[in-house]
Amino acid sequence: MEYITLKNSELNVSRLCMGGCPMGRYGWGTVNEDDLIETVHTALEKGVTFFDTADTYGLGQSELTLGKALGNHRKEVAVATKFGVRVGGGKTVYDNSPEWIREALEGSLKRLNTDYIDLFQVHYRDEKTPIDIVVDTLEKMKEKGYIRYYGLSNIHKDDIAELLPFKGRFVSMQDEYSLACRKNEEDMFEISKQLDVTPLTWGSLGQGILTGKYTKDNIHFGNDDRRSRDIYVNFHGDKLIKNLAIVEEMKKIAQKYNKSVAAVAIRYILDYLPESVVLCGVKRPEQIVENVEGTGWRLSEEDIKILEEVSR
Ligand SMILES: NC(=O)c1ccc[n+]([C@@H]2O[C@H](COP(=O)([O-])OP(=O)(O)OC[C@H]3O[C@@H](n4cnc5c(N)ncnc54)[C@H](OP(=O)(O)O)[C@@H]3O)[C@@H](O)[C@H]2O)c1
Repeated sequence: MEYITLKNSELNVSRLCMGGCPMGRYGWGTVNEDDLIETVHTALEKGVTFFDTADTYGLGQSELTLGKALGNHRKEVAVATKFGVRVGGGKTVYDNSPEWIREALEGSLKRLNTDYIDLFQVHYRDEKTPIDIVVDTLEKMKEKGYIRYYGLSNIHKDDIAELLPFKGRFVSMQDEYSLACRKNEEDMFEISKQLDVTPLTWGSLGQGILTGKYTKDNIHFGNDDRRSRDIYVNFHGDKLIKNLAIVEEMKKIAQKYNKSVAAVAIRYILDYLPESVVLCGVKRPEQIVENVEGTGWRLSEEDIKILEEVSR
């Protein structure tokens, strides 16, 4: 495993972070709680010390399962969760108000069965709460010891000017990034440089397409799997065709290094985005074992170039 200290913090974490989306057990097809708990334990054995979740994943289910799975191991790891999205009454609204941040924190602490959150992230910015109010609320939580650090998520280059006065306060930013999704690349480079934050990538396996197990003919997601919907572009239309072409190149490279295709997807990000952390959602122990194979080696410059060319 490789480890990194997040910018402007003393938070040292594994560069592979176990993502908690599937742990919400909603919208990801059939996922079994016993498997998830075993997956967390396997992750710990393999040196994973960073776990990401959100209050919205399965409406709290992901945090509950993570808290249960970590049990006595809580202090050995860093737990990241997110706030800022309120779901209820058939509506989803972004809310960064101090009242909602406090309520969200209380709920997350309870579900995770912990006294503190290592990294509390603004899941999405709302359009009404001034950023200084958000920072002030988070600073007070930090002073009280409820959170250790705070971070950003789903922000873009246009947000830099507003956030610049708070450089050094936020330690990280999350956005979608993978060989299947390069649209945020420039923003991630720019934001991490200008705001001095560690980039954390989500959808790092292209929601599964970059693992090499899907072909044009074996993609049959049920209604309980969000990837059946067109907005999950990686599995539909021209984008799917392009992704399968990327996977063909990845397979050749994986064979050369005797690694899994998923490991190549992860390695590419670790090598290409300096000082990044890769988040991968996992459902079963064998998936985390395979993903850990993405750490501890490097791709050659030549192979990085091949992957870059096929994925642009
Ligand atoms: N900040 C945000 O707004 C945001 C948004 C989305 C996600 N995230 C975070 O980022 C994490 C990663 O993103 P993601 O979970 O959406 O997508 P992802 O990591 O790209 O893909 C996860 C899916 O890939 C499949 N998979 C994983 N490892 C595999 C392996 N070794 N072999 C075969 N299949 C494998 C699993 O699904 P199947 O087995 O069903 O194919 C798994 O659910 C999330 O879990 C969450 O913590 C953050």
